[in-house]
Amino acid sequence: MNDSYRPNDRHRRPRASNDAGTEGFSDGRLVEVHHQLANDKEEPAEGFALLPVIVVFLFCGFGFWAGLYLTRNSDGFNPGSFDLDAPRALVDNGPKEFEPDPVKGEKLYVTNCAGCHQPTGLGVAAAFPPLAGSPWVAGNEERLLKIIIGGLAGELDYKGTKYNGAMPNVGAGLKDAQIAHIATYVRQAWGNAAGPVTDAKVAEARKAVGARASYSPAEILQAHPLEIK
Ligand code: HEC
Repeated sequence: MNDSYRPNDRHRRPRASNDAGTEGFSDGRLVEVHHQLANDKEEPAEGFALLPVIVVFLFCGFGFWAGLYLTRNSDGFNPGSFDLDAPRALVDNGPKEFEPDPVKGEKLYVTNCAGCHQPTGLGVAAAFPPLAGSPWVAGNEERLLKIIIGGLAGELDYKGTKYNGAMPNVGAGLKDAQIAHIATYVRQAWGNAAGPVTDAKVAEARKAVGARASYSPAEILQAHPLEIK
């Protein structure tokens, strides 16, 4: 073992060259060294130590990420599934019943119909008949749906005013639900007060239209006479 004096090693006492090696410190010296050792602790640092702050941040970050992950990946998980006393409506995650939405209907109307029938539903004189207050729109929804899906062309009498235009089969390129939203909107906007239309009704009407290119107003009226004149 190397017994040479190392200045940083406070556990070893410095040795004089004539030191025999076995005699210890004097009592006074021993107490003094003891005091030095006892007082030689590290000063407590002020403020926050860096490492714990980083750990706290990492921990919070992880918690945040975990929350995001759960919200995004729970795939409609319903905690009520485990509650046997919960009302069934809360537990049932099955397919929802279709609800016609006039707000969606208005947007779809603007892109698919308003170019001709106008956002006001009042149409354009001598070219596009009005939908606001139209007897063609109220009453049996099949008439309206067949017109949207199949198109309409030929002489048309709208409350005594004659039209003779051609409406394309706008609905052929739309989904059943979209047409249901539009039809519901048209039947309830501008003071119209007819009932809503479901996507199932649209599917029925689409079957009835089949591969037809267009209807004439006379044909439509024969199958579905106006309830109001
Ligand atoms: C390109 C122009 C055009 C577009 C787009 C159009 N229509 Fe028409 N629509 C007409 C014309 C023209 C007539 C009259 C046809 C005739 O004279 O036989 C008509 C007639 C109608 C009628 C029967 C008459 C009446 O005034 O009630 C209804 C209902 C109707 N359209 C609804 C719609 C709906 C709903 C849409 C959108 C899904 C739509 N139309 C899109 C041109 C259009």
